Amino acid sequence: MRMVQSPIIPVVGEMIRNTPGAISLGQGVVSYPPPRQAFERIADFLGNPELHKYQAVYGIPALLELIEAKLLAENGINVRQSSRIVVTAGGNMAFVNALLAIADAGDEIILQTPYYFNHEMAITMANCRAVLAPTDENYQLQPRLIAEAITGRTKAVVTISPNNPTGAVYSEAALREVNKLCRARGVYHISDEAYEYFTYGDAKHFSPASIAGSNEHTISLFSLSKAYGFASWRVGWMVIPEHLFEAVNKIQDTVLICPPVVSQFAAAGAMQAGAGYCREKLKQLSEVREFVLNELERIRDCCALPPAGGAFYFFLRLDTRIEPLAMVERLIKEHGVAAIPGNAFGMETGCYLRLAYGALQKETVAEGIGRFVRGIKAILGA
Ligand SMILES: Cc1ncc(COP(=O)(O)O)c(C=O)c1O
Repeated sequence: MRMVQSPIIPVVGEMIRNTPGAISLGQGVVSYPPPRQAFERIADFLGNPELHKYQAVYGIPALLELIEAKLLAENGINVRQSSRIVVTAGGNMAFVNALLAIADAGDEIILQTPYYFNHEMAITMANCRAVLAPTDENYQLQPRLIAEAITGRTKAVVTISPNNPTGAVYSEAALREVNKLCRARGVYHISDEAYEYFTYGDAKHFSPASIAGSNEHTISLFSLSKAYGFASWRVGWMVIPEHLFEAVNKIQDTVLICPPVVSQFAAAGAMQAGAGYCREKLKQLSEVREFVLNELERIRDCCALPPAGGAFYFFLRLDTRIEPLAMVERLIKEHGVAAIPGNAFGMETGCYLRLAYGALQKETVAEGIGRFVRGIKAILGA
């Protein structure tokens, strides 16, 4: 465990708590609650005393059915073609399940940099090695570098689209190329789709598991945390090849026994409300995004801001030699606004910062981003 990086969010959180009035552009959550239908569905749970006992390891039938229909209608994923759905206690758990099912100690998993830190942490915890493939200057996939990174010990290539921390959305063509590469080289493609509904403008989400013949080597991870304001309810799911079902069941039975059943009922209610619930919220979120983008224009000459067509993040590269954590500390203490330093996402050189705009009301974001822009200008003397 000493080899595992400490999550940076609590470190920044502590700095924020010590600075009264500071606004956090750090948290990767949405501001809205679950839909009404989620709470209504809990009555069904409470009405049946049998449901207080353990239920199926891989999820309750009512939720599995809704997920299966959603995957077919929205993602073009047909789980009847030798795939299985396993409901998990969130997307992070789905990733750990996948990792433990496919990798032995010493195996390699390819992550794109910047990476999602919990993926890297899980790989280290499993005594595996995260092999890093850099994305390009627009944080897009570089399939050639991924191909070069594959060795005899590689077990999987991980992609996240829309991406945390960059907000980049990968094209269908690029994801097809990576999926084909994985198939040709006999490794899994793990596709994290926690932000599937969060796309703006022309950006379109694509699920690699919808590719014909991909189901044997593709593992897709989904989450209700962002789409349905469900972060604390802990519900996600994974779509896995049939041949991994037994292994994943062993892992989940040992760690969780079954996903919390009350949360699964709430999740079924949320999924009955459907994607429309999230899409409705997205209107306001995209206004906030436009506002943040306009504000960031004011520091264009001292930072690079690649296009971010999805999720609710921007990942800036500042033109300075100041260390990212020192920059964040100054922004909090001197300007009352927080961001997440880029080294948490594996960017070891350069001053990168992640800004998250999903968690706050419009007015608070406006104040926060105003402070951020003024702070950067003051610190960099721009
Ligand atoms: C890319 C990505 N995957 C998974 C998760 C975790 O989601 P969950 O709450 O479902 O565990 C997050 C949360 O920020 C994320 O950004």
